Amino acid sequence: MSSTSGQVIRCKAAVAWEAGKPVVIEEVEVAPPQAKEVRVKILFTSLCHTDVYFWEAKGQTPVFPRIFGHEAGGIVESVGEGVTDLKPGDHVLPIFTGECKECAHCKSEESNMCDLLRINTERGVMLSDGKSRFSIKGKPIYHFVGTSTFSEYTVIHVGCLAKINPSAPLDKVCLLSCGISTGLGAALNVAKPKRGSTVAVFGLGAVGLAAAEGARIAGASRIIGVDLNPRRFNEAKKFGVTEFLNPKDYDKPIQEVIAGMTNGGVDRSIECTGNINAMISAFECVHDGWGVAVLVGVPSRDDQFKTHPMNILNERTLKGTFFGNYKPRSDIPSVVEKYMNKELELEKFITHEVPFAEINKAFEYMLQGDSLRCIIRMGA
Ligand SMILES: NC(=O)c1ccc[n+]([C@@H]2O[C@H](COP(=O)([O-])OP(=O)(O)OC[C@H]3O[C@@H](n4cnc5c(N)ncnc54)[C@H](O)[C@@H]3O)[C@@H](O)[C@H]2O)c1
Ligand SMILES: [Zn+2]
Ligand SMILES: [Zn+2]
Repeated sequence: MSSTSGQVIRCKAAVAWEAGKPVVIEEVEVAPPQAKEVRVKILFTSLCHTDVYFWEAKGQTPVFPRIFGHEAGGIVESVGEGVTDLKPGDHVLPIFTGECKECAHCKSEESNMCDLLRINTERGVMLSDGKSRFSIKGKPIYHFVGTSTFSEYTVIHVGCLAKINPSAPLDKVCLLSCGISTGLGAALNVAKPKRGSTVAVFGLGAVGLAAAEGARIAGASRIIGVDLNPRRFNEAKKFGVTEFLNPKDYDKPIQEVIAGMTNGGVDRSIECTGNINAMISAFECVHDGWGVAVLVGVPSRDDQFKTHPMNILNERTLKGTFFGNYKPRSDIPSVVEKYMNKELELEKFITHEVPFAEINKAFEYMLQGDSLRCIIRMGA
């Protein structure tokens, strides 16, 4: 038992008071974990574009004040009643979509959409009692996707924590808590390109480049990277992307350019932008008869996907995935082992590092399209 077990912890957290305004490092109170909950000391966190969308709240429902952050690594400080799988000192990765291990989805080999703990971007409270565990002078501060890792301590449902090898460096494997597993799984578990096939990846941020890495591991021979930001292309060469397309360089839809380059379309495409037009292009650029498109990007609340039904009748398949179809507790420990065995490189995704006090820089780097991942060091 740690000395803080059962007590309120006062610590630093980055609070987003208003949409799009710099987050402010505040002293917050973190309540002890309730039944089936775990309080985690976060050591490293990073910024994913999903945090930025909900912080900007342009096309999303605003929930403020809120503590964002969902890509992180930490150590269990204390556990609530009924938690048997984790104990203080365990190393964990928080995951924004959980695994209760009991519902029909958790029991299905095909799904990771847990009934109880699937991603919910609008809920800002804990499931058990509908309350927040964070407060400042008695005023609640809302959670984000059940993780809120931009805090030195956070409270998370036990089903949203993957217990990992304690010798794995948390400043690297924290990336597996969202973006890299998502992209990798979108390729390996969902798109499943065949050896020698051609794959298009839309959006060459960390998620898209992890998808390219997955396509390379699966044996794809051509990987076509599509991005509006030409600075991404140099970086992308390290990830097995073989050709680059900037839609701005063409006066016809990029799906037509791709069809022209590939004898009618790619075998697989993976969309990692969050832009509705890129989602439609990603679907329409796959070959008829066998092509499969996978959507990964998080759309705006009011987006509508529009394509002619003939594109589907012509035997194209459209799929989508959260977290690359990985089940967080069952599958992520072995993805961490892939890094430990050097089958997967994470260092090349890390373009920046900042101390927690400078967390707003991580937002700037992402908004300017300069960073893949920026590691934020807590307690520094
Ligand atoms: N489904 C999931 O489980 C899941 C998990 C993590 C992230 N995401 C989503 O994946 C997406 C990528 O995340 P990221 O952290 O890599 O973001 P990022 O900002 O680092 O990368 C996105 C890239 O897409 C490019 N882009 C934007 N619009 C485009 C367009 N119309 N055509 C081509 N390229 C375009 C940008 O220039 C950028 O390089 C985001 O939408 C994020 O919310 C989804
Ligand atoms: Zn994410
Ligand atoms: Zn479940």
